[in-house]
Amino acid sequence: MTGATEQLEKLEQEILAAVSGAGDERTLEDVRVSALGKKGSVSLLMKGLGGMEPEERKLMGPALNGLKNKIGDAIADRQGALHEVALEARLAGERIDVTLPVRPERKGTIHPVSQVLDEVVQIFGDMGFAVAEGPHIETDFYNFEALNIPAEHPARQEHDTFYFNEREDGSRMVLRTHTSPVQIRTMEKQEPPIRIIAPGRTYRCDSDQTHTPMFHQIEGLVIDETTHLGHLKWCLEEFCKAFFEVNDLKMRFRASHFPFTEPSMEVDIGCSFDDGKVQIGVGDDWLEILGSGMVHPYVIRAGGLDPDRYQGFAFGMGLDRLAMLKYGISDLRAFFEADLRWLRHYGFSALAQPTLPGGLS
Ligand code: PHE
Repeated sequence: MTGATEQLEKLEQEILAAVSGAGDERTLEDVRVSALGKKGSVSLLMKGLGGMEPEERKLMGPALNGLKNKIGDAIADRQGALHEVALEARLAGERIDVTLPVRPERKGTIHPVSQVLDEVVQIFGDMGFAVAEGPHIETDFYNFEALNIPAEHPARQEHDTFYFNEREDGSRMVLRTHTSPVQIRTMEKQEPPIRIIAPGRTYRCDSDQTHTPMFHQIEGLVIDETTHLGHLKWCLEEFCKAFFEVNDLKMRFRASHFPFTEPSMEVDIGCSFDDGKVQIGVGDDWLEILGSGMVHPYVIRAGGLDPDRYQGFAFGMGLDRLAMLKYGISDLRAFFEADLRWLRHYGFSALAQPTLPGGLS
């Protein structure tokens, strides 16, 4: 009897030594199979229990079970440790030195639209605006209805909307035709004071030198209890001066109409078209750059806020257009052709992030 117990102890020591000696997960698995597998040393001993005298079995049964559990636990521990070691080794092997300089033959550039987006975000960020987002595939409600553009409104035709197929309930999703739906989504989510800009892709079925089916807009929305037209003017003036880097920029707020703002204004900046190219900040011509206005009470209500308590302004402008104007790019379609020569020429250095103190461009 004592012989059997001694034998077990010896076996235990051997197996545990093999477990802790296993240097990788494969070796450990071999150890497991040789002990606990179908024909493993411990399994065979357990099979022998049936043929033992009852007295002997009473002793050996629990002992063998204990041994089996002990080995199982030791293997699991070792496995965890080996796994960790393997992971460490892999991470060390896959380490990338991000401080290495860019390889000259793979020099990428920042697309003018991304550059302009970064610049705009910098300027409005400095004025306390946060960046908001919304989906590109919108419901009729967010893209039109909530913005005071009901089903038969003529403004719908102007939008050249891409519609999806009708759904079972008869409704149709659209590719958003402007970033204005983010106004509604923001009001639904956030209590005033609201101060956001919402840049992103927009879609209209239109294509020529200055229109592409996909383009970029940036929306602005300010809502609180006392915001008025003076704030709108100041904000857009400061933006234009900073963006075009012209201190005495001439600006004109021209009465216009949008269903979602009242009153509505389009903003023109002073420029010259001499010699067939646009120059911002000089000359006596005007160039329209954005749409704006005081948010219509209907829209505030559609956003879930009380228009008797809250008011504010909104604006929207084309990012691609801003890029064309600021960087003298004449054909919008080239923006989306992914022509490497064009990108190298008009692209910006990835290392020169635009900042207000450091300079925008
Ligand atoms: N959504 C308008 C457009 O796409 C722009 C706009 C936004 C006008 C906000 C006024 C206020 O033309």
